[in-house]
Parts: sequence; C-alpha cells; structure tokens
Amino acid sequence: MNILGIETSCDETAAAVVTNGVHIRSNAIYSQIAIHRPYGGVVPEIASRNHVAKLPGIIENALNEAEMGYGNIDAIGVTYGPGLASSLLVGFSAAKALAQRLSIPLIGVNHHAGHLHSVFMGEDAPAMDGMFPMLALMVSGGDSSLVLMKSVGRYEIVGSTIDDAAGEALDKAAAVLQLGYPGGPVIQKTAEGGQADAIRFPRGLEQPSRSKWLYPYDRELCFSFSGLKTSLLTYVQKQEAPLKGISLQHVAASFQEAVADALLQRTERALERFDVKSFACAGGVSLNRVLRVKLSELSKDKQLPLLLSSPKLCTDNAAMIAGVAYEQLCQNKAINEPIDVSPSLRLSDW
Ligand code: KG4
Repeated sequence: MNILGIETSCDETAAAVVTNGVHIRSNAIYSQIAIHRPYGGVVPEIASRNHVAKLPGIIENALNEAEMGYGNIDAIGVTYGPGLASSLLVGFSAAKALAQRLSIPLIGVNHHAGHLHSVFMGEDAPAMDGMFPMLALMVSGGDSSLVLMKSVGRYEIVGSTIDDAAGEALDKAAAVLQLGYPGGPVIQKTAEGGQADAIRFPRGLEQPSRSKWLYPYDRELCFSFSGLKTSLLTYVQKQEAPLKGISLQHVAASFQEAVADALLQRTERALERFDVKSFACAGGVSLNRVLRVKLSELSKDKQLPLLLSSPKLCTDNAAMIAGVAYEQLCQNKAINEPIDVSPSLRLSDW
C-alpha cells in the first residue's frame, strides 16, 4: 500500500511516498530556514505563503522520485496539528482536495505521533515487535515531553516541559549569543572545542518546590528551560565585552550540556519508574551529538535498546506522517478524516 504523506506544520514543506509503512520511496523536503533566518525565527505569514508556492512542486518531486503517479497512491496522510494554523491549512487543504479528486482515504495525523513513529522508519530501522512498552523522549522546537507508549498509537504523557521546549531554549540562546537561527545546529557547532563544564548553568526544577505543583505530571519528570535561559542572559549581560572566540565556545558548550543533562536526567528517572522494553528519542533536538552520546551511555547502563531516527527523519518530514497514516489505516478503526486543522492538537490514542 502506497501512502502519500504531506507535512506543512511549520517551516518545512514536505511530501513523501511510503510503501507499507516502512519503505520510504521518496522524502521531498523544502526547508524555509534561509527565508526565516533574517527574522531570527519562523514568521507564520511568510511560512504559509511559501507553502502555497512550493507544495505543488514538492508533491510532484515526491511522486517522481518514487517513480509513481497519482494512480499508484492508495491513501493520503496529512499533518492536521499541532503547528501554525496558517501553515497547517495549506497542506491540509491540498491533501483534502487531492483525496477527494482521487477518491482515496484522507488520514489526519498528529505531528508529534509522526516524530515518535520515525524511529521505526527507514531500511535500517528496528522492527516494532518486542519494543513496547517504550519510553520516548520527544524533543522538537515546539515541544519537549516524555511519552510512555504501550503500543503503536497508545500514548501516555508522563512528563512535559512547563515552559519552553528544549529546541526553543536552544533557539533563544543562539539569539542571545548572536549566533543565528536555528539555534540547535549553531550552538552544537560553536560548542566544538569549548568546555562543557566551564559554566554551571541550571538544569531546571532543581530546588524543591516552594509553591503548590499545578501540573498534571510528576514534577520529577518535568522540564523547565526558562531559568536556564535567564541564567544565560544574565551571564551575557555581565560580560564587559561581547563574547567571542574560546569564551563563546565555552558558553555554548556549557549551555548545550545543561540542556542535554536536563533531558537525560528526566529520561533516566522515567526509566527507573516504568518497566519498558526500549526507549527512544525523536524530534529535531534528537540530532544533537552530545544528547545522542549521553543517551547511548544510558542505553548501555540500563541494558535497554535505544531507538533514534536517522538524521533525515529527525527534523520535520512527510515520511513519518505517511508512516503513521499507514498504521492508522491498518488498524481500520482509526481512519481519521478531520474536518479542519487543529493547531493545539494533543497526542491521543487512536
Ligand atoms: O522537530 P523539528 O524539526 O521541528 C518541530 O517540529 O518543532 O525541530 C526543530 C528544532 C529547532 O529548535 C532546532 O534548533 C533543533 O530542532 N535542532 C537541534 C539540532 N538540529 C536541530 N537541536 C540541537 N542540536 C541539533 N543538532
């Protein structure tokens, strides 16, 4: 079964053709990063206009690369949330129109479900059998959470950020350090040669809570990156001259270490609490080398398989959306034809 995936939730215009949920025939992505870079972040209006301009060509590229025509496509999977409303609408409207024209099912897919599923996709990916229950660390630009998956399509969020997402913290830190956008890759690059223990930045929620805990998750499994961000800002403001050279490298390495440590600490705690057969990390921040090394060491320590997506599947792409759409279609009960986009969509079972 061939599924055409379409993804336009933020600043990547993407389409892919996936056969039987795992064989990625094509994975076409147009990244708008260069267009948004001068603004230091994604400008929704510009993002949606570029999706309109690029999506038809990207879908065509995906079909050509897969050596298929519309007649070979059995269903369309499209991201309908969470994300930027004006961006989601472009992919969603196109997918809906195409599905109607071709008389094939349209399956609405949660963007975060796509990221989580990406660890099972691609030629070298592990089979799903024997991997559940699985603990997944979801770390993207818009969300950071710990998700306990009992099986495909069954999600229990057990920890979450109470303020910024990890990627957002890296993006904001890069802006403070005047390194450009997106923050994750530039901080990783700048950190090379810097000492990770040069400055001790906070790891979030380290002190016992003085007020009532109002979040629905265990405090020990939650992240907070706002204190870390303030700490960096205060550090930079205290400097007599703008940071550069080795001092800038030390700051970038120490900040990156704090983010990776905070993520690792909560993952380790969750692994102690839940009896799982594997653990995974997905989303754009899972590309981070320091985080990958720390997670691999944890995997050895705990003797648990660690599942990481291949680099092309870490950031936003449509192959992961087609992969989830296939699983939903196979489970039949989950044919999901949403009538509209849902910018604040939460992960829920299907
Ligand atoms: O998953 P993604 O492409 O978009 C969302 O769905 O949000 O993630 C984008 C985030 C950005 O915040 C970016 O700074 C971060 O992933 N990122 C990284 C790296 N590459 C991208 N963070 C840390 N290290 C990287 N190498």
